[in-house]
Amino acid sequence: MISEIKFKDKVDVLDPIIIESILKIDGKTIFDYGCGDGQLTQKFAEKGYTMTAFDISDKLIQENKLKHIDKSVRYLSENEFENQFKQLEHKFDIVLCSLVICTIESDEMVQNVLRNIYELMRVNGRGIIAVCNPNYTQVKESEIQYRFLPENCDLGSKFEYKKKIKTTNRIRTDIHRHLKLYQNLLSNSGFTIMRKYETPGKDLENDNYSSDFLIFDVVKNIEDEI
Ligand SMILES: C[S@@+](CC[C@H](N)C(=O)[O-])C[C@H]1O[C@@H](n2cnc3c(N)ncnc32)[C@H](O)[C@@H]1O
Repeated sequence: MISEIKFKDKVDVLDPIIIESILKIDGKTIFDYGCGDGQLTQKFAEKGYTMTAFDISDKLIQENKLKHIDKSVRYLSENEFENQFKQLEHKFDIVLCSLVICTIESDEMVQNVLRNIYELMRVNGRGIIAVCNPNYTQVKESEIQYRFLPENCDLGSKFEYKKKIKTTNRIRTDIHRHLKLYQNLLSNSGFTIMRKYETPGKDLENDNYSSDFLIFDVVKNIEDEI
């Protein structure tokens, strides 16, 4: 008998953990930084949050504006984001940034994104920043994806690698950064990591535990707020 093969997707694995962690936070305004197709943004809007969402891809923002015309999300293109940045500063209880910085090669650009997130968060606000879990980049096959690493890559540093997403068969490029590099980037941007948590999963080569995504729950450094 051929059993039905059901692959998992980040929507089943990562999004529920992000939603659960945000529901526990005291706050009603969320900025979704790098919102992509807006799936997660819309879920929070349906839960009654006041949502503002930005993506560097104008195409995705235009599509989101058309697709979700009936909903109350404010979608911002890059131009709109830049023009309105001053008015958006310190306005958000929560800034969500899911699977964005692990797609950006330049540390300078990542630092820029993190500084923007910092400025968007109100005093005592929270940042929920999800990345591809650097502690398991070496796992070749998980329930979600296949990973193809360059030869002789150094897991203690930074490199580009490809992955194939099982549900879509799409090849994506990601950037591996050792956990310490992420911690340095966050700390240099003025954040304290309150908690780190990871999505549970499996290394299908040997049936061991592995994890596809890591979430940083961050606040602004206390001394910066004074
Ligand atoms: C893998 S998708 C994740 C989308 C969504 N956050 C999610 O979790 O489904 C990464 C998104 O980040 C956006 N992005 C990449 N660099 C960015 C930047 N510097 N500023 C804003 N968005 C960026 C891309 O256009 C893309 O839509």
